Amino acid sequence: MAFGVGRAIKKMLKPQQPLQFDYAGDNIAVRKKNLSFMSDKDFAFAWGKAVEGNRPAWGGRTKDVRWRAHTAVWAAKHGLTLEGDFVECGVFLGLLSLTICHSLKFEQIPRNFYLFDTFDGIPDDGRDATKKQNRAYFDCFEYAKKNFSPFPNVRLIQGALPGTLPEAPVEKIAYLSVDLNHAKYEKEVITELWDRLSRSAIVLIDDYAFQSNEEQYEMWNEFAASKGTSVLTMPTGSGILIKP
Ligand SMILES: C[S@@+](CC[C@H](N)C(=O)[O-])C[C@H]1O[C@@H](n2cnc3c(N)ncnc32)[C@H](O)[C@@H]1O
Repeated sequence: MAFGVGRAIKKMLKPQQPLQFDYAGDNIAVRKKNLSFMSDKDFAFAWGKAVEGNRPAWGGRTKDVRWRAHTAVWAAKHGLTLEGDFVECGVFLGLLSLTICHSLKFEQIPRNFYLFDTFDGIPDDGRDATKKQNRAYFDCFEYAKKNFSPFPNVRLIQGALPGTLPEAPVEKIAYLSVDLNHAKYEKEVITELWDRLSRSAIVLIDDYAFQSNEEQYEMWNEFAASKGTSVLTMPTGSGILIKP
């Protein structure tokens, strides 16, 4: 008893983490907003693991996309209230999905997380823009496998989408992240997976509202409208689409 009281007093006297209100990164800046999510112990740990796992990429300097990662963790947590597995199309070394896995301690969750990627860049479509984007990617399958090795329920599916979708026995999806940086491939993927999404599941669209990604923007707006809904633009440039 005395020990418990002592511990409680010590805890009260421990200096609190200073609250964070300002943030600038990922081409956005905010002031005077409560950004406690950034110092949340589980999130900060998970983000640190994701950055560590991404060291071989981006010239060793991972962009501070914590707001996007926070959005992904939030959408995945919402997925835990629904029936189904988690799916990400476009993984690379797993900045978003590693943050989710470490935040949620995914190895303890009785679901699968299917990660689809060539793990070697966007399939050639003859376009210069694709060739240019592919300069950022490299054969990263072994790194990706190592990053996700603490999570036996995470399954990496290597190959060009949408052709690899039948390789995963996904009947219901509770969380879907689409990050292929390519309008045509993203459309093929969402068209195939839409009916398997649980009602109210979130589709996180990483490159929805970026300058120079207007093709993706139009595609997702048309797709959402065809389902009687629309996409929420996030200040990060990501889009949030909810399955009605
Ligand atoms: C921007 S990266 C994904 C980043 C990742 N979401 C993260 O959190 O770090 C885009 C990825 O999409 C993959 N990709 C693009 N088109 C693809 C396709 N048709 N089939 C499989 N993978 C594809 C590329 O190989 C690349 O790794």
